[in-house]
Amino acid sequence: MITTSGLTKIYRAHRSSGREVTALDGVDLHVREGEVYGVIGQSGAGKSSLIRCVNLLERPTAGTVTVAGRDLTALAGRGPRAGRELRQARSRIGMVFQHFNLLSSRTVQDNVELPLEILGKSGKERSRKALELLDLVGLADKAKSYPAQLSGGQKQRVGIARALAGDPKVLLSDEATSALDPETTRSILQLLRDLNRQLGLTVLLITHEMDVVKQICDSAALMDRGRIVESGTVSDLLATPGSELASALFPVGGEASGDDRTVLDVTFHGDSATQPVISQLSRTYNIDISILGAAIDTVGGLQVGRMRIELPGRYEDNVVPIGFLREQGLQLDVLDREQPVLVKEAAK
Ligand SMILES: Nc1ncnc2c1ncn2[C@@H]1O[C@H](COP(=O)(O)OP(=O)(O)OP(=O)(O)O)[C@@H](O)[C@H]1O
Ligand SMILES: [Mg+2]
Repeated sequence: MITTSGLTKIYRAHRSSGREVTALDGVDLHVREGEVYGVIGQSGAGKSSLIRCVNLLERPTAGTVTVAGRDLTALAGRGPRAGRELRQARSRIGMVFQHFNLLSSRTVQDNVELPLEILGKSGKERSRKALELLDLVGLADKAKSYPAQLSGGQKQRVGIARALAGDPKVLLSDEATSALDPETTRSILQLLRDLNRQLGLTVLLITHEMDVVKQICDSAALMDRGRIVESGTVSDLLATPGSELASALFPVGGEASGDDRTVLDVTFHGDSATQPVISQLSRTYNIDISILGAAIDTVGGLQVGRMRIELPGRYEDNVVPIGFLREQGLQLDVLDREQPVLVKEAAK
């Protein structure tokens, strides 16, 4: 549904200084139709640049952007006819912002009607559509209110209704919940999930919060310094040993009790249980196994369990027991002393 290929954005900070910032460095992104796709990364990673390039709010320096089969980059800056086509294509892409971007002098209903005015719809049609959308986001009774009379969560619902006015196939969201408290965040994410399911809407969302990815994303990508360093469906990521995103999505705590120890993260999906395997391991090799941490959670709608265990001795001493665990079909991550930054952050 959304494909970027070699997407590059270089900002020229000051014309005179000639200093350049490479915000996107050859990004290949593929968002499938009907999925909720989360892009996560630290501040300055290039997330907003990515989303602004996807709807051509920002002109990419190089690379292509295709949305719903149309190459938007080919339309940009190619004369009036292509310009019209680009505007039309963009009206099928809804955008939700962190700070809502509502017009304070307009009522809720008039805010939602704004994109319809731009599309040249009649007054009657606009009002019918706006009321229908307000009903969809649970704000039917606020049509005549002004933004200042709404809570943050309600404002974001108006922002979402407005984004849906052009019947988009794709919704882009840049930190839509960053200004909201956790409870309201959950309800807005649930709304996005419901819209995704009800309307078959493809959602590309940008966030720096792992919980957002955990709650609603089918797929995720990790961005770092303008590049996508990891991506995939949440279930594939969780099944990938050493995946930084997976450990951040699902951190288990627990520190090694000494230098001469081997620490393993064991991941199991669905109903598979580790308990018998662990006690078998202990009996077979006559070793004491400590459980440092364990958790079961729902990630992207899937039940996943993770257990951090400690074996006496260094890695070299434990090659055979580790082989035994792998043979039982368990997913294992051998922990290095040096953990990736993202994991440490999420575990805090
Ligand atoms: N209009 C601009 N002009 C110059 N540099 C910019 C511009 N917009 C962004 N940048 C730079 O590009 C890099 C990526 O910025 P971007 O806003 O895409 O990051 P981000 O991942 O969205 O960060 P945050 O989580 O803080 O929103 C940063 O180094 C930023 O300073
Ligand atoms: Mg940003």
